[in-house]
Amino acid sequence: MHFHERAETYEAHAAPQKRFAEALAAFAPFRRGVRVTELGAGTGFLTAALLAQGVNVDATDSSPAMVEVGREAVPAANWKVHDAFGPIEKAKALASTGLLHWAADPAAVLKHWHAALPEGGRLLLGVPCDPCLNELRDLIGEGPVRWRDEAQWLNLLKAAKFDVHAHGVLESEEIYPSALDFLRSLHRSGVTGDPRMSPGELRDLLRDYDRLNARKDGVAATWAWLLVDATVRR
Ligand SMILES: C[S@@+](CC[C@H](N)C(=O)[O-])C[C@H]1O[C@@H](n2cnc3c(N)ncnc32)[C@H](O)[C@@H]1O
Repeated sequence: MHFHERAETYEAHAAPQKRFAEALAAFAPFRRGVRVTELGAGTGFLTAALLAQGVNVDATDSSPAMVEVGREAVPAANWKVHDAFGPIEKAKALASTGLLHWAADPAAVLKHWHAALPEGGRLLLGVPCDPCLNELRDLIGEGPVRWRDEAQWLNLLKAAKFDVHAHGVLESEEIYPSALDFLRSLHRSGVTGDPRMSPGELRDLLRDYDRLNARKDGVAATWAWLLVDATVRR
């Protein structure tokens, strides 16, 4: 992932992430006036949606560049640089979208999040899951992320002693003018790994993607996000 280097271009190329963040906030709204710590807040899509509900948001991200952009975009939140993959500061409630799947060991991360919350404390979680970006993965293989399906994520939450009260997968087909535009969008939003393709391989990939996923007005990519409302069990 290259979010730190892409902080300036993330927002313009992250339309699906924005939609899922807004859907997550609407899926299980917090009560007005509660204080929520957001992890991996990026440029503040979920932050803004939570603030609109009257929630007080401590927005955190490990990238100082993201925090800077986020603070400018959503100044009403309390922004701070904070790593969400190790032990985290105590919180009354946690919210996060588009972050946990980047952890090498999400089970260990969930244990840290569990430890930071009181009994009954809420975790509002959004995470991409199968079949997200399956057309691309069919062509280039897995990575940089290990993809999990809904059941695998729910098992991880259960094993980390979270009670899941509501969950659902949102799936949408995004249309891009071409495979090149699609890959550029991924690149400029920072979600790609290190390049490991020769120019010839990239040319073949683009040609195959355009051919296999053609639609009337461009090429299609599937996006899928798991939304979870959970609380801590002791
Ligand atoms: C795909 S972006 C999602 C941002 C935002 N939540 C959204 O939905 O648009 C992932 C974010 O997680 C941040 N991030 C990556 N690793 C992190 C870590 N260990 N702790 C906290 N934030 C992290 C990145 O800097 C980036 O801003």
